[in-house]
Amino acid sequence: MSFEAFDNIRVIKVKDKREGGEKAFEIVKEAHESGAVVFGLATGSTPETLYREIRKSDLDFSDKTAINLDEYVGLSPKHPQSYHVFMDEHLFSVKPFKVSFIPNGMEDEEIEIARYNQVIREHPIDLQILGIGTNAHIGFNEPGTSFDTHTHKVKLTQETVDANKRYFESETDVPGYAYSMGIQSILSAKKILLMAYGENKAEAIEQTLRGPVTEDVPSSILQTHPDVVIIIDEAAASRV
Ligand code: PGA
Repeated sequence: MSFEAFDNIRVIKVKDKREGGEKAFEIVKEAHESGAVVFGLATGSTPETLYREIRKSDLDFSDKTAINLDEYVGLSPKHPQSYHVFMDEHLFSVKPFKVSFIPNGMEDEEIEIARYNQVIREHPIDLQILGIGTNAHIGFNEPGTSFDTHTHKVKLTQETVDANKRYFESETDVPGYAYSMGIQSILSAKKILLMAYGENKAEAIEQTLRGPVTEDVPSSILQTHPDVVIIIDEAAASRV
């Protein structure tokens, strides 16, 4: 494991996603011990090893709040590929939170966006967990998304549909839209922990750390946040 500081971003290089999960868990534990109340959570394959560490731990989240980044539009909370089911399976069934918020993909756009923005306003996020897309999206904020966005409805790019179709029976089953926290919602978190594993994330990580801050690279906005930790394995670190 090694450390490198890119101005405000602390980069932790690990051997693999198992070690990444352990390191990420230490950061979650530190936040928990220093009184964090609201945890912003992510789905996808990246946080799985972190959630495994949390499940194994004796940390108690029963007085904590969870706010998830996003949900597919059109999937009910009971759909096996919904992020509701993902979170139940990977975390909440073993580590229940006092309250957990996830966008409702079946709800009307205007109502759901207003509700979720209010949730975020009323529960300021202490630690936000993030993965990153191969196209450098964070949450479902695809390249070109305004840095000013709060919760919004997103049309998924073909690259994201391609990346996520592995979870569905066929590509046509992948929903075309999602509700996602916006870039401003993510930046409002006190601390941000992003993880990336695998060679297919190397270019996105290079652009996050070294590239200009541009809406074409949503994750590049993290260069402007005062407290960011990025955990990457050797493959994701291969271009930095
Ligand atoms: P992954 O997705 O963890 O499944 O690679 C990350 C993301 O799209 O943000």
